[in-house]
Amino acid sequence: MTKKDFSYFWDDLADDRGARRRYEKVMMFIKKYDPKSKSILELGVGNGNVLKHFSKKYDLHGLDIDKKYIELSKKKIPRANLFVASMHNFKVKRKFDVIFSVYDSLNFLKNLEQWKKTFKNVNKHLEKEGLFIFDFYTPKMLEKAKKWDIFSKEKFGFMQDKGVVKGKRLTWHFSIFEKQKRKNFVLHEYDFHEWIFPVNQVEREIYKNFRILEKLDGETLSRPTKDTFRLLYVCKTSSVNLKRAID
Ligand SMILES: C[S@@+](CC[C@H](N)C(=O)[O-])C[C@H]1O[C@@H](n2cnc3c(N)ncnc32)[C@H](O)[C@@H]1O
Repeated sequence: MTKKDFSYFWDDLADDRGARRRYEKVMMFIKKYDPKSKSILELGVGNGNVLKHFSKKYDLHGLDIDKKYIELSKKKIPRANLFVASMHNFKVKRKFDVIFSVYDSLNFLKNLEQWKKTFKNVNKHLEKEGLFIFDFYTPKMLEKAKKWDIFSKEKFGFMQDKGVVKGKRLTWHFSIFEKQKRKNFVLHEYDFHEWIFPVNQVEREIYKNFRILEKLDGETLSRPTKDTFRLLYVCKTSSVNLKRAID
C-alpha cells in the first residue's frame, strides 16, 4: 500500500458526462430563477468538472476543503477564483448571486451543527434574492449503499468500491489496484465518510434561512417519491424566519 493521494486517480474515475449533467441541472434553475446572475460560487468543487462548463459571462468562484482538489481544478479553470475552505465556516468579503453544491458534497459534513452553519453561512454570502441550489442524500441511500459493491476495470488498473453503513455514517471504501510494469499491481485503499440525516431535520434548518422554490428528486427532477435517494433543492434567501419543517 502506498500514500498516493486519491485525487491522483479521481480524474480517471470521475464520470465526466455525469458532471456535465449536474452542470445542466444547475444552469436550468439559474436560467429559470435568476437569469441575470453574474457571480457563482460552488461549495465542494472537487476536480472542477462541473464548474468548468460555465460560460465566460460568469464570474466563477469555488471552494473545497481539500487542497489537492483545488490544485486540480485550478489547472482546468484558470480564470476561476478557487480556494481552500470548508463550506461551514468560509468567509469572503463579498456576496454571490448564486451558490450551489452538488453530488452530495453537503453529506461530507460530519454533524448537523455543520449543516446549520453552512446554511447560515450561505445565506450570509448570498445577494438579496440570491439563489442556493444544492442536493443531498436521503436515508434511502443508506439502504442502497449496504448492497453497493462494484468492481470495475479502469485506465490505471482495477477498482472496487464498497459501501459500508454504520448508523448515519456511510463509508465508501475504495480499493485501487494500480497496474505496474509487467503484471504487478499496487493496492491503494481509501475511505470516504458521508453523513446522512433525516430529511425533516435538514429541512428545519433550510427553512430558517431560505424559501424553498423547488424540491425535487435529484436524479429524475420529478416529484420526490419514497425511493428518492438524492433530493435537490432550489432556494432563495429569505428575510422571514420560518421555523417550519415539512416531511
Ligand atoms: C463528491 S465530491 C463532489 C465534487 C463536485 N461538486 C462534483 O459535482 O463533481 C465532494 C467534494 O466535497 C469536498 N468537501 C468535503 N467536505 C467539505 C467541506 N466541509 N467544505 C468544502 N468542501 C468539502 C470534497 O473534498 C470533495 O471534493
